[in-house]
Amino acid sequence: MKGIVLAGGTATRLYPLTIVTNKHLLPIYDRPMIYYPIETLARMGIREVMVIVGGKSVGDVVELLGDGSAFGIDLTYRYQPGALGIAHAIGLARGFVGDDAFCCVLGDNILRGPALADVASAFEAGPFGAGTLLYRVSDPERFGVAELGPDGHVVGFEEKPEHPKSDLIPIGVYFLRPDAFDVIDHLLPSGRGELEITDVLNHYIPERGLYSPVYDGHWTDAGTVPSLLRAAELAAADDAAGQLPPPVSRPVR
Ligand code: DAU
Repeated sequence: MKGIVLAGGTATRLYPLTIVTNKHLLPIYDRPMIYYPIETLARMGIREVMVIVGGKSVGDVVELLGDGSAFGIDLTYRYQPGALGIAHAIGLARGFVGDDAFCCVLGDNILRGPALADVASAFEAGPFGAGTLLYRVSDPERFGVAELGPDGHVVGFEEKPEHPKSDLIPIGVYFLRPDAFDVIDHLLPSGRGELEITDVLNHYIPERGLYSPVYDGHWTDAGTVPSLLRAAELAAADDAAGQLPPPVSRPVR
């Protein structure tokens, strides 16, 4: 399985913190934000990763992560010219992905808890067309929101609905196969002008099925000031419990 980390976007919700720098370089406790999604993929056993970069300080992201060897992975990069949506950013990885299944982690998603190797294997071995992890939140209107059918299965996702139909959201971890690129090719921009990942997930619900277990660790995004603080608190709690390995570093040139 290959890996993708998305580190584009404009991060206006974090202004003024992100006026002159890339959100994914901001510190979360003892390391830059983008370390967390990279570590999420590395802990899954994924070795080939593409980082989609965009917005501010693209060169700094590349200088920070280098060739990935410090993380035990092989890193390549692709530039997204504008915040055209999560699905658009994933579409840029078509050539890199080739014929493999892949996992995309959003660059501002912090997961603390069990590694996802089992989830990745279950997706790859199973009949599913797509996969994501669900998580219960108190402010679902900020995210994609799952609608559940009578049997408790997901029957659809709505992106940032005014009236959420549940408190379960798809977090920014997506398991896909190469046919997702054809789905992305046929997407139309949403009302906010983006190609939405929830539209990609919705495509698979009636078709080959969506794999959507509930994540049983701790999760937050870090795209707003309160969630940036919560992300640091999660990392600090893990550190206090001896669950946060020291951040990788490399000699400065
Ligand atoms: O965090 C989970 C949520 O992430 C999901 O529940 C939503 O369904 C999904 O749409 C997304 O919502 P956000 O509004 O929080 O996404 P945001 O625009 O903040 O982008 C998330 C990350 O993806 C961010 O770290 C940068 C990257 N990104 C985003 C866009 C729009 C890109 O690389 N390129 C882009 O064009």
